[in-house]
Amino acid sequence: MQRMTAAHIDREAIRENFALTRTLAPGAQALAVIKADAYGHGILPVAEALQDLAPIFGVATIDEALALREAGIPNSVLVLEGVTTVEACEAAQAHDLMLMVHAKEHVVMMSGMSLSAWVKVDTGMHRLGINAADLNDVIERLQAGGVDVQAVCTHLACADELDKTTTTEQIEAFGRCTATCDLPLSIANSAAVIAWPESHADWIRPGIMLYGVSPFTSDIDAVRGLQPAMTLSSEVIAIREIQAGDSVGYGARWTSARASVIATIAVGYADGYPRHARDGTPVYIGGNVMPLVGTVSMDMITVDVTDHPNVSLGDPVELWGRNVPVNDVAGHAGMISYELLTGVTSRVPRLYA
Ligand SMILES: Cc1ncc(COP(=O)(O)O)c(C=O)c1O
Repeated sequence: MQRMTAAHIDREAIRENFALTRTLAPGAQALAVIKADAYGHGILPVAEALQDLAPIFGVATIDEALALREAGIPNSVLVLEGVTTVEACEAAQAHDLMLMVHAKEHVVMMSGMSLSAWVKVDTGMHRLGINAADLNDVIERLQAGGVDVQAVCTHLACADELDKTTTTEQIEAFGRCTATCDLPLSIANSAAVIAWPESHADWIRPGIMLYGVSPFTSDIDAVRGLQPAMTLSSEVIAIREIQAGDSVGYGARWTSARASVIATIAVGYADGYPRHARDGTPVYIGGNVMPLVGTVSMDMITVDVTDHPNVSLGDPVELWGRNVPVNDVAGHAGMISYELLTGVTSRVPRLYA
């Protein structure tokens, strides 16, 4: 009998979330970010689902891009992390991949090759990107070397923090350094698509919102239209009655204050459920949200179902999805939704609708 733990992926939800990005940024085109196995949702099924909607896919690495090409995905693909070797440039050339130029060294590496590129300028994140002062020179040298520069972009450090001035400063810095540039421009990740319309420019680059997850911890109107694409589900595999004063799980972290009923669920940190989830992390069983109690084990968690006497062996359980936002689980574990979605392990089958 197959273990019931699975990640159910709703590809129609991903399509509708993509459509929502277009509604929020009607003047921009959208590059769909499907790196990291489409944030854990499966890069090929997600690429297939968005193939007729997204003109460009954004991936992190050449290998991710090659997986798309091997599967016959014809869309443009931008390698967001860029490359570090001439061999990688040659692979990009052979498979018609666009490279992110984020360092001056790329200009020499790519010179003379038949390649397309986006150029990334650093406006304050100080992770990737050429300096603003070098932008025009880098574009000219790339073009002189035969590279087709298709867009100029930057990445925002704090778009999910609405009370900070950093985003406005970055947008203004980008505006200054691209003032004389007639190439298409791109700034916005999901948080900026939702909350910073002045960042929309020519291309938006949504990631997390395609999967129906808000990039914000606070409640924002625009994210209400998002539909969670992943439901991590399992089942109740044991129900035990314990006495007041009994403790549950490794380290005896949680001790019952009353006679209690504990349901054991077949999901644990080896599936990607966060080991540091605190007591009280929401778990959805039979139409009700109930609290996780006790330390998360490798293959199991324990839930206090005392107040819901109908819970039975084999009942389906939602760990996150439409009833339990993944952001809530992440918040109870001191993590972010991105970590949880990309951390669902390979032993969890992805089941596609
Ligand atoms: C360059 C770039 N653009 C866009 C995104 C998408 O970000 P988000 O998932 O927050 O929308 C990422 C993700 O990290 C990125 O690295």
